[in-house]
Amino acid sequence: MFRLLLPSIAVLLIVCSNRHSAVIAASGFAIVGYVVTDWLIPRVGPSFVKIGLYGKDQSKPGKPVIPESVGAVSATVYLLVMFFCIPFMFYKYMVTTTPGGGIRGVSIEESAGSAGSLFPHGKLSEYLSSILCLESTALLGIADDLFDLRWRHKFFLPAIGAIPLLIVYYVDFGATHVLVPTFLQGWLQMTNIDLGWFYYAYMVSMTIFCPNSINILAGINGLEVGQSIILGVLALTNDALYLSVGPQASRESHRFSAVVILPFLGVSAALWKWNRWPSRVFVGDTYCYFAGMVFAVVGILGHFSKTMLLLFVPQILNFVYSCPQLFNLVPCPRHRLPKFNDADWLLYPSRANLKDEPPKKIFTPVLKVLDKLRLIDVEYEGDKIISCTNMTLINLTLVWFGPMREDKLCNLLLVLQLMIGLIAIVLRHTLGALLFGHDNLWVIV
Ligand code: UD1
Ligand code: MG
Repeated sequence: MFRLLLPSIAVLLIVCSNRHSAVIAASGFAIVGYVVTDWLIPRVGPSFVKIGLYGKDQSKPGKPVIPESVGAVSATVYLLVMFFCIPFMFYKYMVTTTPGGGIRGVSIEESAGSAGSLFPHGKLSEYLSSILCLESTALLGIADDLFDLRWRHKFFLPAIGAIPLLIVYYVDFGATHVLVPTFLQGWLQMTNIDLGWFYYAYMVSMTIFCPNSINILAGINGLEVGQSIILGVLALTNDALYLSVGPQASRESHRFSAVVILPFLGVSAALWKWNRWPSRVFVGDTYCYFAGMVFAVVGILGHFSKTMLLLFVPQILNFVYSCPQLFNLVPCPRHRLPKFNDADWLLYPSRANLKDEPPKKIFTPVLKVLDKLRLIDVEYEGDKIISCTNMTLINLTLVWFGPMREDKLCNLLLVLQLMIGLIAIVLRHTLGALLFGHDNLWVIV
């Protein structure tokens, strides 16, 4: 009986949306995504192991082997669901006559009255380019999981996945102007500035940053999916604000964001069920790239990539904090996840061995300062540094709060992320509005 509850709600929402509300239809399809992904994961998991797609859970006694790259299931279901959504998202022009050869003769708008909550036909190219971009990103993620690419190669992989998005953006929309903050407008004598090709460089950076930043804030059960779900909830909260009290002009892009994110939350929730502590599957880089790209896509197409980056503050902090290791000023081991202690089931900060492979000389004083500020924990032999904790927010949390069980650590990181994200949204619509003179949610008078 309970098994039929979710599918029934999904059908009800999709039928009720009745080609009048894209968001209600997307909510129905989100539930479809959840149900299908949740059904598939336990059934296909063993096949992943059979073809060698498995990983060792480093933070469990005996390091058990479980399926890896199961995020590919979520990504595939998501892409299919997004296709099935199309008839419910766009109001349709019905072709009533055609002289042949595929030429449209007389056409009528089937449901022009619903234009307020459905998308115009023109938006279909953006929608399809997003799906294409996410499809190529998932494909490249699978390639990474299969071939275990080197860090310096895989870093740029998402930019290749983003090509369909950027090319359609260029042909279809092409806007490269950005607003100048009020306090600079008088000095620069302009209200907006055309960034031209720099805007494309900015979009490429966004498509590289979002997927990679999720992939490097990882290594404990549930964190990759958990942080993506929080990011989705935060983005959806921002969309809900615009859709309820925002001006008409900004509603379409936030409705678009909501219909892309809702099904993503559905497939991610099912993945979370199997990936949360104690994990029965790993998500793989496929999921991290795919999830990051979902946020890059809505930020770029909705023209609110700066707001989107605000939601990524914890990931940005983790990236900045990781830079010394990412750029090899301090040795970076293959895995920086915390160290599991069999005896008490607690996680301890993992360390980079600096005895055999010393850090760059120029960086040694910085390590000492970071140690004084309690931003890392340094181990000395005499006055020689022999190790330091790996520079990730996960290890830093353990340095600050002491050893913790894996699930508690994950929950703590997710709660912190949610709080930082909510503060970021409030600041965006208060401080941000003051800085730019107006907010597109409300006008400062
Ligand atoms: C990134 C991190 C790496 C971290 C790894 C964990 C950087 C530069 N790279 O590398 O430090 O160790 O993610 O995902 O910061 N695993 C667990 N428990 C989990 C999740 C993963 O034990 O909850 C282990 C498993 O052995 C799994 C492996 O991590 O097979 C997956 O690592 P992979 O995603 O290939 O690492 P990277 O993304 O390259
Ligand atoms: Mg990874």
